[in-house]
Amino acid sequence: MLTVTDVDVFIQTSHILRHVSLEVGAREVICLVGRNGSGKTTTLRTIMGYHRPRAGRVEFRGQPIHGRRTHEIALLGLGWAPEDSAIFSDLTVAENIEIATWTRPGGRPAAERIELAYDVFPGLRRYMARKGPAMSGGERKMLSIARALALDPELLLLDEPFEGLSPAIIPAVSLGIAAITRLGRAILIAESNIHHVPDYTTRLYVIERGEIIFDGPPDDAWRDTTVSRIIGGAPR
Ligand SMILES: Nc1ncnc2c1ncn2[C@@H]1O[C@H](COP(=O)(O)OP(=O)(O)OP(=O)(O)O)[C@@H](O)[C@H]1O
Ligand SMILES: [Mg+2]
Repeated sequence: MLTVTDVDVFIQTSHILRHVSLEVGAREVICLVGRNGSGKTTTLRTIMGYHRPRAGRVEFRGQPIHGRRTHEIALLGLGWAPEDSAIFSDLTVAENIEIATWTRPGGRPAAERIELAYDVFPGLRRYMARKGPAMSGGERKMLSIARALALDPELLLLDEPFEGLSPAIIPAVSLGIAAITRLGRAILIAESNIHHVPDYTTRLYVIERGEIIFDGPPDDAWRDTTVSRIIGGAPR
């Protein structure tokens, strides 16, 4: 579904991503794990068209997307929930979700997509009329993912969906993401804390200093000495 091949990204004069290759197949849940500053966000932002690779290719459903504009990439069916959630603070929860259905019209009816977003995060129903400043960090994360889902994407890119959340709210976010996978959507999660890697992850990539140093099932990652030296041992 998504194929990133030998991508090199420079930001100004810094070589940030080095020959990054990764793949996300239909219905897969892939985690891109790495320390702070290793290049996770840059990888996701490159897929979304915010950075233009100097070399390499990004293909989504067989079409090259590198060099295309972010909104065109979103229209092809890539949903994006950024690290800082980036919800519209002046709008209510309901309006934030609804706006995604205008951004990508067509496909499933808007009402159905909105229902799906609340089914995945039922807690958001209670806050439908609430605006950004009155929401907790966890509610914002859920809203950001719900809004990406309302776009009706085939693949969702989630940048650190558990970061900064209290342990009490992490299960609700994790259950919501699991529910999205049951809807048949693929998910690529960037994560810096191995304890947050969901147990339903099908495959995992480890990124270190802009290079992919591991690709395989999570259990193999925890057994890999280089990986465990960099990101720590098994989370469970
Ligand atoms: N706009 C920018 N200008 C200069 N350097 C940048 C810029 N954005 C990212 N970088 C650098 O690129 C590298 C990778 O950053 P990136 O944000 O992709 O890491 P990350 O793995 O997402 O980290 P974190 O876990 O802290 O979110 C870092 O060294 C960072 O300082
Ligand atoms: Mg990041």
